[in-house]
Amino acid sequence: MAKDPVRVLVTGAAGQIGYALVPMIARGVMLGADQPVILHMLDIPPAAEALNGVKMELVDAAFPLLKGVVATTDAVEACTGVNVAVMVGGFPRKEGMERKDVMSKNVSIYKSQASALEKHAAPNCKVLVVANPANTNALILKEFAPSIPEKNITCLTRLDHNRALGQISERLSVQVSDVKNVIIWGNHSSSQYPDVNHATVSTPAGDKPVRELVADDAWYNELETLLNGEFISTVQQRGAAIIKARKLSSALSAASSACDHIRDWVLGTPEGTFVSMGVYSDGSYNVPAGLIYSFPVTCKNGEWSIVQGLPIDEFSRKKLDLTAEELSEEKALAYSCLA
Ligand code: NAD
Ligand code: LMR
Repeated sequence: MAKDPVRVLVTGAAGQIGYALVPMIARGVMLGADQPVILHMLDIPPAAEALNGVKMELVDAAFPLLKGVVATTDAVEACTGVNVAVMVGGFPRKEGMERKDVMSKNVSIYKSQASALEKHAAPNCKVLVVANPANTNALILKEFAPSIPEKNITCLTRLDHNRALGQISERLSVQVSDVKNVIIWGNHSSSQYPDVNHATVSTPAGDKPVRELVADDAWYNELETLLNGEFISTVQQRGAAIIKARKLSSALSAASSACDHIRDWVLGTPEGTFVSMGVYSDGSYNVPAGLIYSFPVTCKNGEWSIVQGLPIDEFSRKKLDLTAEELSEEKALAYSCLA
């Protein structure tokens, strides 16, 4: 029997990530090839005509799984009955700007959209915040939508996670699909800590730790530098590098990673694999509770759980604390912007 359609909200749907994301959702990339969807697209009045153009294209593409499209500038209409909300709407960072610079513009949007979601979304709606500053926007959304369970509000660090997989794959000349269990800790910003200490590469002889492959390599010194130096800064700065190259921030990789995030959350992570998600901290790994912080998680039956008990060395501990400090500062700054 055919499944009932799932209603998926995309805010900022007339923007560049929106334009890459909505066809992926309509093709089943996010929720599966047998899951019909109804797309709810929200944008602001100056973008209404462009939004209508996106709707026309969705109709023209004749996606078999797409059972309806709502395109609107009314947040209440957009949020009504949605099961999944992907919050992309906001202002992107331009060349030379840090994420803090977009804070004041974006947190007030998340405060007001929190109440629209709280009042009108379907019960148990899963929320993914993409717009920057993603962790802090998600925290503001959570705080101003107190009746949405905190487990249901997350932010996107899967793009950083995928970037880390990509870097390891390129430098070790292995397939990206054979690399797993990197971790992004903390903020979706340049203070994030991309951690390879638990990452492995699948080989015909079984899974091998990335660290071991590096140690075995004739280019040990160069690669050691790669792992603790160049690797970390390349992943941390990749968003800025894309902005420099494209004069626009990342879009297709952000859209694809948003699909990965929701797909794994809803359908589960493969056995033995963890992924990175920005989630509400419960104090795990001595990260202060009350922040939206990126942790290693596994997902099952539509719920994420933080992977517990991973050893954290001294180098990593400092990095975990540094990005937590930045998030605490961002939280204070967000509240001062809202005051
Ligand atoms: P964009 O400017 O192309 O699109 C943003 C859209 O949001 C625009 O159409 C704009 O009209 C709309 N918008 C503005 N205010 C809104 C509101 N109140 N309600 C609904 N829509 C609204 O930007 P983009 O390149 O698509 O990026 C979107 C956001 O995602 C930015 O904040 C960007 O920094 C962020 N981003 C995050 C990640 C991540 O990994 N977390 C990656 C890439 C980009
Ligand atoms: C990214 O990581 O590509 C985005 O968050 C854009 C940015 O501002 O870095």
